[in-house]
Amino acid sequence: MEFPVKTGAPASQRTACAILPVFEGRGLKGPTKEVDLSCGGLLGQLVKSGDASAKPGSVLLVPQLQGSAADRALLVGCGKQADFDAKRVRQALITAVGKLKSTGVKEATSYLTYTRHRSLDAYYATRVSVDAARSAVYSFDELKSGRKSRTRLSKLAIAIGNRSDLRESRRGVSDGRAIANGTDIARDLGNRPANVCTPSHLAREARSLAKRCDNMEVTVLGPSEIKRYKMGAFLSVTQGADEPPRFIVVRYRGAPASHAPVVLCGKGITFDTGGISLKPAPKLDEMKFDMCGAAGVLGTMAAIGELQPEINVVALIPACENMPSGSATRPGDIVRSMSGQTIEILNTDAEGRLILADALTYAKRFKPKYILDVATLTGACVVAVGHLYTGLFSRDEKLTAALLGAGERSLDAAWRLPADDEYGLSLKSNFADFANIGGREAGASIAAQFLSRFVDDTPWAHLDIAGSAWVSTGEKGATGRPVPLLTDFLLNL
Ligand code: BES
Ligand code: MN
Ligand code: ZN
Repeated sequence: MEFPVKTGAPASQRTACAILPVFEGRGLKGPTKEVDLSCGGLLGQLVKSGDASAKPGSVLLVPQLQGSAADRALLVGCGKQADFDAKRVRQALITAVGKLKSTGVKEATSYLTYTRHRSLDAYYATRVSVDAARSAVYSFDELKSGRKSRTRLSKLAIAIGNRSDLRESRRGVSDGRAIANGTDIARDLGNRPANVCTPSHLAREARSLAKRCDNMEVTVLGPSEIKRYKMGAFLSVTQGADEPPRFIVVRYRGAPASHAPVVLCGKGITFDTGGISLKPAPKLDEMKFDMCGAAGVLGTMAAIGELQPEINVVALIPACENMPSGSATRPGDIVRSMSGQTIEILNTDAEGRLILADALTYAKRFKPKYILDVATLTGACVVAVGHLYTGLFSRDEKLTAALLGAGERSLDAAWRLPADDEYGLSLKSNFADFANIGGREAGASIAAQFLSRFVDDTPWAHLDIAGSAWVSTGEKGATGRPVPLLTDFLLNL
């Protein structure tokens, strides 16, 4: 999809469809009023008659506009003008593009952010518009036969009222497009079933990403190398599966080697049956999404590769299946992690923390500035914050503030949850250094404490995306989160 930025007057701008905001209160405002004047007050009448409304979510297509340079108008309810923030822009544009998808319209112009709003600068107004439009046209149909439901909308112009905002808006387009491209990659990887999206598939995708930029390189470790590194925790998870594991390392070099990198670790369980601690059948298909941490990290690397910021980033992805079989790990088995610490595996379904343990240990060799890990780690996190937020665990105040801010700005929000040492007390084991599970309460914080035992003094944050990585209702599928949050964070370092 193309996103040109336009500065012309609304009434004289040629377009197949002008997307116009309708705000609460008497009379039309801004660009909507200008178009209304040129077409003899038709739009005002439609609002008066109640056919069009300011209510968020409402939308009316006006198929013919005489007197205006726009062939059609799409009136989109935007609520109170004073409350029109990034979230509302996103909702309004998703509504608008959703409506246009069902028509044959190939090109449209958005006036939703034509008037500059208090809380939204030109850069973010444009970035959020691009990101919203792209997410509204996303579909996953590569595995459906027959005609694909490709949307015909291939160009969305973003109209702005101030010429002086042109540069910032254009920057919003390129950042928004890169974030959307990364998000789409994460969504595709998440949506692919486990018989397609295997650990080797993730490795191939990482390689093809790196091929697109000179300063990105990929190294993939197979079973024998993983053994050589003594990644006993990771190996204990993969040992029941026939599908071979991969440990994927992606390096992006945008700054001199003397700059400490940010290391991103993504959980890449391509299918989580629970292992011998087998999961129940309902919704088990959704455990194909258990590699969404890996997908989010790869999507972020794609966005970074496209935008080329002057930083260094390393992505680490332990990828394998968690299967039950004659060779699978048994509850009670004790393994030695790469860090040297021994772990009593009391529940083979708490596998994400085991593969991440070795990835976090491996991260040390890069002497990172920050370590972030991203994982669909606990059902407890979903119980705590639902699907709205990613759970954020960190003891570093500066890193926490940066991540929370990035989440808010990119409409991919995280919520801070407790990361006190005390949550680790119940990981006590009589037979090993500690166990892989603790008590029943505060399961997401216990998991975070387990991970913390594999991180030294490096500022570190753990993102639990168990609730935010996919939706099970309505348009079921992967969301691509937290690509927007991570990319915004990295761009603002
Ligand atoms: N991948 C799951 C977590 C999960 C479950 C994410 C449901 C999203 C939806 C993880 O590997 C897991 O099974 N965690 C266990 C941990 C428990 C055994 C301590 C859980 O949350 O039940
Ligand atoms: Mn599990
Ligand atoms: Zn899992």
